[in-house]
Amino acid sequence: MIDNIHKWLVLRLTLLWLVLSLMVGSIVQYLGHTSLDNHVVNMAQTETSHYTADFDAYLKSPSPQALAVFNQAIQSLIEKDNLIVVEFYGADSKKVTEAVKSSAEEIEKRLPKHGDEFSNASGIICEKLTLGQDIFMQVFVPILDSAGDKQGYLEGIYHAPGDIVARNKNEILLALALVVVIIFVITLALYPLIIRLNHKLLNYSHILALTNIGVLKVLGSAIAKLDSDTNIHNFRVALYSFRIGEKLHLSHTAMQGLIKGAFLHDVGKIAITDAILLKPDKLTYEEFETMKTHVSHGKEILCSYDWLKDANDVVCYHHEKFNGSGYLSGLKGEDIPLNARIFAVVDVFDALTSRRPYKEPFSLETSMGIIRKDRCKHFDPKIADLFLEHAEALYAEICSENEPLLHSKLEECIKICF
Ligand SMILES: [Fe+2]
Repeated sequence: MIDNIHKWLVLRLTLLWLVLSLMVGSIVQYLGHTSLDNHVVNMAQTETSHYTADFDAYLKSPSPQALAVFNQAIQSLIEKDNLIVVEFYGADSKKVTEAVKSSAEEIEKRLPKHGDEFSNASGIICEKLTLGQDIFMQVFVPILDSAGDKQGYLEGIYHAPGDIVARNKNEILLALALVVVIIFVITLALYPLIIRLNHKLLNYSHILALTNIGVLKVLGSAIAKLDSDTNIHNFRVALYSFRIGEKLHLSHTAMQGLIKGAFLHDVGKIAITDAILLKPDKLTYEEFETMKTHVSHGKEILCSYDWLKDANDVVCYHHEKFNGSGYLSGLKGEDIPLNARIFAVVDVFDALTSRRPYKEPFSLETSMGIIRKDRCKHFDPKIADLFLEHAEALYAEICSENEPLLHSKLEECIKICF
């Protein structure tokens, strides 16, 4: 069980680490790229501002001579800047002039072309373009007069410096690696905490289970006292049931129900009067009909406590017979729950091999003969055959043992399945 919890936890914590790393990593990457974009936008806007003042001056006194001087100035400026293209337009959206960085003419040709979609804009617009690993920013800057009327505009393409882009990408990668490592360390720190917490919970569950089992034994003992029997019958039928359950590879859950049911199978006898329960003579028809109701009384008693509900199969159906002639439901064949079919065999076998006020114990051979004779009638033939196959060993282990030893063996079985 502990191995399973380790495997279970490692798998889930690994998934948690991956999911958190992906989520936080995506956020870090998004913020990093946004920061880079904002940085490039600021730089592009700063550089284009170097051109707008000269263009504004030219627009106020346009002439061929002024244009020649302006062309010379902008060509000289662009060679030193990160802008690779700057185009200047008048108020009528006709191009006035342009400057292209000599070393970037090839790049400019490869960049996506744009129309005049920005020409009516009244504010600065920046749009990001990428070419391979390079980042470009297309910038639109309107030239306004003092009244706020547009006199012309400038369009430029800014090439983000490679060292800044590379530095920013390295910072993003570093932040990503840091995030992944921090989440890994936190996840790793959670592991022993969860294991410790689980261990504590298991301890509390075990204590609770032991308390419940203690109540089960007390209740079983009280039931046994009703008809002057002793705990030893409960111990024996619980042990026989456990051994057969093992041979059938029952799950822990099914085994718990089987053991609880073995202890409590006759809990409903609490509701039967002593006059009937302790009557030494044969019961009349009416008395036997009343006696049968211990099954339904048992079911009602168990309903009041969730922890005992899995004993229902044995308590409700331990008097059913494989051929359908049992009581109270008259179930037949495999409609009878498996735990009840197992218990029916061991309960009868223990009754046959035990001393009772009205009889001496039958021998192993006689008892096995009765079980064999009733296979298919009273008992599920598969369960009866399995029991008969192991009856000799079970009889030697359980039938003649004293109460403390049986109790101790039962404790071992309880440890396995609770
Ligand atoms: Fe019974």
